[in-house]
Amino acid sequence: MKTDTPQTIYLKDYTPPAYLVDTVDLDFSIESGGTVVTSTLAMRRNPLVSARPLVLDGEELETLDVTVDGAKVPFLASASSLTVDHLPDAFTLRTVVRIKPDGNTRLSGMYRSKDGYFTQCEAQGFRRITWFLDRPDVMSTYTVTLHADKATYPILLANGNPVANGEEANGRHWAKWADPFRKPAYLFALVAGKLDGLFDTFTTASGRTVQLAIYVEPGKLDQCPHAMAALQKSMLWDEERFGLECDLDHYMIVAVGDFNMGAMENKGLNIFNTKYVLARADVATDVDFENIDRVVAHEYFHNWTGNRVTCRDWFQLSLKEGLTVFRDQEFGADLHNRQTARIREVRGLRAAQFPEDAGPMAHPIRPASFVEINNFYTATVYEKGAEVIRMIQTLIGRDAFRAGMDEYFRRHDGQAVTCEDFVAAMAAASGFDFTQFMRWYNQPGTPRVAVDGHFDEETKTFTLTCTQANPRASDESPYLIPLRVALFAADGNLLPGSERLLQLTATTQSFVFENIAVEPVPSLLRDFSAPVYLDFDYTPEQLTVLLAHESDPFNAWEAGQRLATQLILDAAAAIAAGQEPVWPASFVDAARKLLQTQAGVGNFGGAAFVAEALTLPGETTLAELMSVVDPDALHAARNGLRRHLAEQLEGEFSGLYAGLTVNEPYAPSSEQAGRRALRNLCLAYLLELDTLSVRQLALQQFKTADNMTDQFAALAALANVNAADCPQREQALADFYAKWKNEALVVDKWLQAQSTSRRPDTLATVKALTAHPAFDIGNPNKIYALIRAFGANLVRFNAADGSGYAFIADQIIVLHDRNPQVASRLARCFDRWTKFDAGRQAHARRALERVRDHAGLSRDVLEVVTRALG
Ligand code: ARG
Ligand code: ZN
Repeated sequence: MKTDTPQTIYLKDYTPPAYLVDTVDLDFSIESGGTVVTSTLAMRRNPLVSARPLVLDGEELETLDVTVDGAKVPFLASASSLTVDHLPDAFTLRTVVRIKPDGNTRLSGMYRSKDGYFTQCEAQGFRRITWFLDRPDVMSTYTVTLHADKATYPILLANGNPVANGEEANGRHWAKWADPFRKPAYLFALVAGKLDGLFDTFTTASGRTVQLAIYVEPGKLDQCPHAMAALQKSMLWDEERFGLECDLDHYMIVAVGDFNMGAMENKGLNIFNTKYVLARADVATDVDFENIDRVVAHEYFHNWTGNRVTCRDWFQLSLKEGLTVFRDQEFGADLHNRQTARIREVRGLRAAQFPEDAGPMAHPIRPASFVEINNFYTATVYEKGAEVIRMIQTLIGRDAFRAGMDEYFRRHDGQAVTCEDFVAAMAAASGFDFTQFMRWYNQPGTPRVAVDGHFDEETKTFTLTCTQANPRASDESPYLIPLRVALFAADGNLLPGSERLLQLTATTQSFVFENIAVEPVPSLLRDFSAPVYLDFDYTPEQLTVLLAHESDPFNAWEAGQRLATQLILDAAAAIAAGQEPVWPASFVDAARKLLQTQAGVGNFGGAAFVAEALTLPGETTLAELMSVVDPDALHAARNGLRRHLAEQLEGEFSGLYAGLTVNEPYAPSSEQAGRRALRNLCLAYLLELDTLSVRQLALQQFKTADNMTDQFAALAALANVNAADCPQREQALADFYAKWKNEALVVDKWLQAQSTSRRPDTLATVKALTAHPAFDIGNPNKIYALIRAFGANLVRFNAADGSGYAFIADQIIVLHDRNPQVASRLARCFDRWTKFDAGRQAHARRALERVRDHAGLSRDVLEVVTRALG
């Protein structure tokens, strides 16, 4: 679709709706040539707003009829609005439109996928179904009737409760649903298809029974039990942790293979990407199982944080998303392993959100403006948003946070509200003053906290001086930053009484610790108490002490990451200068100690922790720390350290590999998953040696694995082998595809193992795969697995000759009109182009300009590319 000059929408321009919609009655007649949607809206003027014409939103609607109180009225229709003037204070508006879901490649609104029709209305997809006030502060009660061919579409679903159904002429049938809860249009959903269902129930704390259903493509019922269990666990957890009970009689999840995002919390009728529903030991990895737990929980938790209390406008998106991510993180931590969960959250934040916050798309968790709201479903709104909620809990404590949640629902149940409303409820429940804290909502950029430690022998004091800065912020006033700290003696003992939660409120601020006999090692930003960069001039010895003795698992891991980061960055500089990197023995010793104890370090650990501790920081994270990124030197340095560890610790890696087998039947438990993670990490390190015996070991594991975690780990490690000639690699890739070519989500893994490979021929492979039957340009999962994953392959995407940039630009142009949301996500691969050398920048600029100048570029892509070009 061609767009006019894109309009920027500002938060400061918010005005309440001029009209309200009390009830919505929708009738869908689904036919092969199109779907006719008849909408009957009971409307009235908003008494708080002076009289104005009614302006409804619409997109790609063929308008067949418009009546007010049963009479034809004059109206003004454009491609995106329908205006009716001279309306009474209350009236019934009836519109009839035809839509074409079969031709809807954007997967927004109502669209066709393999087994039927599905909808995605957040953020602004409902206007692609019918004329409406498509904004979240217009909440209505819905009834929906669906008519379709019975044999082709035996399952007819909408939000709420089934109230009636029946047969009609020509082999058709109908079903009527009523949703008793008022909701905004973005939570509307329908499904018409041929699907199998898994059914169960949940009994709430107050004794109500909720009917649960998961609908999937026929033949996939055996991949549903994990998601069903996840749903039941989520329902119980939300009662126990937050006192929140399910309000529904029917809770349905429908899985669809073509879906732009992860999943959608439509009231009582969640629609999910199959990726976050389907799982069985032989097709899904431990990480997949855990992600399903988290996403099922996320969408369920939205029922309160998002649906019962929703957003006033789309600038408030983090009100529901940041809070709901925080809730799903806490659920995941309780269900699996709190220590490694936190580590992975921070790893993800640094790999995705920190770069975003330093790049052209940087925005506050509550943006002040946007062109296309779909561009703001970001790591910032979601993951940094969750960190902001976590800081609120850190500052006021868990009990006050719970009281604040209670207060939030007491005040706002049934309303569409703002981030201020949430924080005000927290303030009321805790007495805490959040005035300064609101900066976290309104400023972009990752603050940097530089800490200096000064030990005074005379006074026996240790002083921490903290200086904060955020060059991206529009003014210099400081943030309120919760900084969790503790002090360790040089021998590794925690100094009693030294654990404190400091509140940084000034640009520079000092904190004095009394009665300190000898110079301590400070442990700073424990549990990652704020989403900041923390600079402290640690010596390697001090970091080794923390790695071995920290009582905070996050900071033990962090000490290892700091050690590795320094080594890799130094080595990259050496390589760029034509020198050999040096790897100090102390780092190898620390790694050896981790592998030997294997129980981990300090008072915690286990295999899962050791696997995290021995995973080096990723290239994308490290690149943020370089002033000019040299991707080849960085890549060589990081892999050089991996190879050095493999050479020095071959015996340890081999021994652990042999010893860590799981002898019970597969279960996605955190205990088993931790063992598999460490064992597969050992395999990947050993493969750095690329000996024949290790290749054979990997192929052996590939062939004999009884679960996808182990099979895929072997495949991914082999796919990464650099040697031009590696028959084990070829065999594993060929066998894997032959075995799984009918299992769409497994094919995605096969594509991704190749697009993320470090091999120099990766771009050529990816290009060839775009023509392979395994690929499908209409399916977002395939695009993410093959093309976007290539765009995240730092060393190959940023090839010096610009070939990676040109390829992604071509793909954006292929996709921009077909699916603007997915194309726009591909355009984000260019976020960091100005961090590279002049030669690469010239290539990237050319690629971006080529996209920008493409005629009729979709608004989504145009916003991203325009911002990238500055
Ligand atoms: N609200 C969904 C979630 O749970 C995300 C849907 C976003 N969809 C979109 N097209 N922007 O996070
Ligand atoms: Zn969400």
